[in-house]
Amino acid sequence: MKLVGAATITPWLAVVLAVILLSGALFGYDQGVVSGALTSIKAEFSLSALLVEVVTSWVTLGALFGALLGGELADRLGRQRAVLIAGLVFTLGSLVEALAPDTIVLVGGRLIVGLGVGIAAVAAPLYAAELAPTALRGRFISAYQLAVAGGIFAAYLVDGWLSKVGAWRWMLGLSAAPGLMLVAVALLAPQSPRWLIRMGRRADAVTQLQKIHPGVDPSPNLDAIAAALTHDSGRASWAEVFGPEWRRPLLVGVGLAVFQQITGINAIIYYADQIFQAAGFTTQAAQTTVTTWAVGGVNVAATFIAIAFIDQLGRRKLLLAGLVGMALSLAVVGAAFEFMISVSTAHSATTSTAGIVTLAALVVFIACFAFSLGPVVWTVINEIFPGHIRGRAVAVATAVNWASAFIVSQVFLSLINVLGNSFTFWLFGLFCVIGWIWVFYAIPETKGRSLEQMQQLWKHGRTKRAA
Ligand code: BGC
Repeated sequence: MKLVGAATITPWLAVVLAVILLSGALFGYDQGVVSGALTSIKAEFSLSALLVEVVTSWVTLGALFGALLGGELADRLGRQRAVLIAGLVFTLGSLVEALAPDTIVLVGGRLIVGLGVGIAAVAAPLYAAELAPTALRGRFISAYQLAVAGGIFAAYLVDGWLSKVGAWRWMLGLSAAPGLMLVAVALLAPQSPRWLIRMGRRADAVTQLQKIHPGVDPSPNLDAIAAALTHDSGRASWAEVFGPEWRRPLLVGVGLAVFQQITGINAIIYYADQIFQAAGFTTQAAQTTVTTWAVGGVNVAATFIAIAFIDQLGRRKLLLAGLVGMALSLAVVGAAFEFMISVSTAHSATTSTAGIVTLAALVVFIACFAFSLGPVVWTVINEIFPGHIRGRAVAVATAVNWASAFIVSQVFLSLINVLGNSFTFWLFGLFCVIGWIWVFYAIPETKGRSLEQMQQLWKHGRTKRAA
């Protein structure tokens, strides 16, 4: 008889995977789609610069609140029902956006979509972490990141296709389709046995475990979960979440969420066209192609590296290797911009060489992010907390991630004005170096530990770097 932790994908685990993939795709599509829709929205509603900003960024604000709400829903109603609600909210928001008669309704739709995105961003990885067999947990959560990257890529393709005809309502409304699919799959999906046990519903947990892993004796896993519950039962108060006992995992979760953003990924994702324009890709068509494939396509492709290696090499090695690559490539992007400035006045023909160097370095940057900070941050955030604080603590880390994304996207263009291109990229590079040092000293290896064993990590005085 196989243990429940064994690495076999059963049909019901495939349903779990579908929930995770659809949630990630909705998150990513939403991150990527608005840039292509803005020009025609601006024209139809005569938006001021401020309103353009609001239409762009209120999804992120909605997601910030959605993340906090997502933690509550996931704890009170269960992970699977929280994802179901995210799908419903997201579909509603997409339809409101697509049919919006004026700016106020459009902004309302953006906010609703954001709420859905935020709820899903907490509930789906949490669900993945609790349902995945230990040996595949990193891959399951990385699959979520793969779907995020796939969603961004799909949005770039849809933008390139529909922006020519100004069909912004279709661009925004199209995501109602995966939203509805998420609702349908989440209705079918099993509940998290870990959550059921925490709620005192052991019999239901047995039913779900037998459904997910037919023919497998659920007792060893039930016993391990139940034993952990003797120290880890009920639901923690906010005071406990922020209290001294769990300060270290909270700092790890929040720190990873911040570093994922302040190293610049979304500055590049949101403003890729403008960066490539500054790097010498002058036509809109050239910028769109380069952004779609060099940013969107590479982001998807390189996530497979994480899927292949995260459960073998572990989380730390991927993070440390990725941060080195990100720091070096940002140093090169900064230097290329410096070079472009110094040569463009004298020999404008040389600009294209620096442009190609910028492009190559950004490809390396995206690839390194995609196999490290992208998937590993979500994996670690969702596996390090004990069950009774998991929902709320993951919600805090996710909300901090959205807040950091919001701040970076707001200040990026001002930074470019104040510091110039080179120093802005070097600043992101410096954050990669600081992040590397912090990861080296603060992040324990979590590969191969069950969620119950994970709690032991924090009981020792010192962080154990190797599992
Ligand atoms: C980040 C997003 C980012 C995306 C890029 C995610 O892990 O949380 O902010 O846009 O990766 O693929």
